[in-house]
Formats: sequence, structure tokens, C-alpha cells
Amino acid sequence: MDAVARSCVAQRTVTVLENVAIARDTFRLRLEDPEMARSIVPGQFVMVRPGPGTDPLLGRPFALYDVARDASGAALGFDVVYLVIGRGTAALAGRRPGDRVVVWGPLGHGFGPPPGRSAVFVAGGIGQTPFLALGRWWLGRASYGAGLSPSGPPAGPFATSATLLYGVRTAALAAGVEDFERAGIAVELATDDGSAGHRGFVTDLLARRLDRGERPAKVVGCGPPAMLAALSRLVERFAVPCDLSLENHMACGFGACFSCVAPIRQPDGSVDLRRVCVEGPIFNAADVVWSRA
Ligand SMILES: Cc1cc2nc3c(=O)[nH]c(=O)nc-3n(C[C@H](O)[C@H](O)[C@H](O)COP(=O)(O)OP(=O)(O)OC[C@H]3O[C@@H](n4cnc5c(N)ncnc54)[C@H](O)[C@@H]3O)c2cc1C
Ligand code: FES
Repeated sequence: MDAVARSCVAQRTVTVLENVAIARDTFRLRLEDPEMARSIVPGQFVMVRPGPGTDPLLGRPFALYDVARDASGAALGFDVVYLVIGRGTAALAGRRPGDRVVVWGPLGHGFGPPPGRSAVFVAGGIGQTPFLALGRWWLGRASYGAGLSPSGPPAGPFATSATLLYGVRTAALAAGVEDFERAGIAVELATDDGSAGHRGFVTDLLARRLDRGERPAKVVGCGPPAMLAALSRLVERFAVPCDLSLENHMACGFGACFSCVAPIRQPDGSVDLRRVCVEGPIFNAADVVWSRA
């Protein structure tokens, strides 16, 4: 195991600073962890276990939402935003400031550099979470990882605009919209029930833009597999570059268990199963193979 993998696997127990509801069944968890905050970059994720005990035994993966800084801009910790789904996230929702949780990371690869022009993020369900830090970075409003500096914004070139197309079942599940708007990321909503924004699929919002001739320099998607498959077909039709952040089930997060594999097209045209945790979670949309069930 190389040095990077070893440092990722090292688990540590950190303190909960905040755990606040920001939408229906959705919480923003802030953990005190200057070490993680100084090294993690947009697109990477962390594994979180809700307590120092062994129940649940496995950590749960969460994308970096943002790095938390103190008044002087120094790295203090990091935020994840999570939707309560099952046992792990329900236990996490019960954590209070001062409680201790177990984390390991940063894991996976970050996103590539900012596109020269406009960026469009397409999120479904809880898939918006990787896009706050990404938008802040690509717009030149914040630095992450080794570039994290308390003194002013980073140097360009940056994206000229960033838009989040965000689809949820109903308006009450839309989480963090004001965070995105505050970061200069325009938000357009789609809901299944028509309670906010466009009634229908979030991919309809992108299709509309592409149909009227808009060509973003880069599209990035994160959400349920059916949405990502539809997004992949759409961007292929219009030849728009697109990356996807996959959220496959994971057990270890660092390459040891093979629970997270996805079929990925290789440069020679063959298809091979790749571990999303170490080779992703970000892949070129054109390389991800979706079964048409
Ligand atoms: C790289 C990565 C980043 C992620 N980032 C976030 C994030 O920022 N915020 C967030 O809320 N969630 C995120 N997820 C998904 C999150 O990890 C799962 O929702 C969580 O593990 C569920 O744990 P649980 O114990 O509550 O549910 P479980 O009890 O483990 O599962 C309950 C039900 O949900 C299903 N399920 C569990 N995990 C997934 C999954 N990944 N995809 C589809 N169905 C699933 C199970 O099959 C089961 O039916 C991410 C996943 C990955 C791989
Ligand atoms: S989660 Fe274990 S190999 Fe990816």
C-alpha cells in the first residue's frame, strides 16, 4: 500500500462542531479536522462512522461540501451535507456538538481544473453536495488543498459562470440553495411534483439550454444512476464534455473490498470493472457504461 493510501486509511476520531437541519431529512455536519481541511479538494469524499463504537461497523461515504475556515481564513474543519436514508445516516442525525465521530480520507480523486467558460452542474436528489466547493473553486472564490490560503482568492483562469440545475422530488428536499447562490452559482430547480421550478426531470432543464444553442464548456453530473444515464445520452447528442461523480455503494473507501466497482470503457475500447473509490468517483461520462434495464 502506498503512502497516500496509508494516510487515507488512517482513521481518526474528530469532534462534531455543528449538525443542523437544512432541508427535510437533510443535515449539514461540520467536523473539526484541520488536517482534512488542509488537504481535501472538491470532488473527493470522506468516510464517516457515526461513533467510536462498531455499530455500524462500516463508514458511509460523503462528498466534501465545503471546508470550514476560522475568522483568519485558517482551515478549521469540513462540512458534509447528508440525506437520512438508513441506519448510518439516521445515527449521524443524532450526533450533537461535542460528540465524537470517526473519519478517514480524503478519498478518491478531485475534479479537473476550471473550464475556460461556463460550467453547468446537474444534480439529482442529494447529488448537489460536491458542487458547492467545486463552484467556489472554479469561479475563483476559494482555494482548496495545497492551494488553501488565508490570504485572498486564488489566481485564475476560472470559469466565467456556474449554474446548478438541481432536481428533487419536492421543494422541501432542496438543500443548501442559498449556499450556492451566495457562492455566485445560479440555481434552477426541477421538482417531480411541481412544488418549485420546472415540473419534471432535471435533465429537461439542460436539454432546453442545449436546444436553444447554449454550449457549456463543461457539464458535471451527480445523482441517481437513471439520471446520470439520461444525462450521458443528452450530452453525447450535443457533444458537450461531461464528467460524472458516481455514488456507488462503498464498504472500505480505499480500494480493498471491490464493493464499489462500475463498468468503465478503457482506452482500447474494452470495458472493465473499476473501483469507484480509488479510480473515481469522477469519470468522463463517455466512459461510463450504463445497462439499459
Ligand atoms: C463518493 C460518494 C459520495 C457520497 N456523497 C454523499 C453526500 O454528500 N451526501 C449524502 O447524503 N449521501 C452521499 N452519498 C451516499 C451515502 O453514502 C449513502 O446515502 C449512505 O451511505 C447511506 O447510508 P445509510 O446507513 O443511511 O443507509 P443504508 O442503511 O446503508 O442503506 C439504506 C438504503 O439505501 C440504499 N443505499 C445506500 N447507499 C446508497 C448509495 N450510495 N446509492 C444508492 N442507494 C444507496 C441501500 O441499498 C438501502 O436500500 C455518497 C456516496 C458516495 C459513494
Ligand atoms: S469501497 Fe472498497 S474497494 Fe471501493
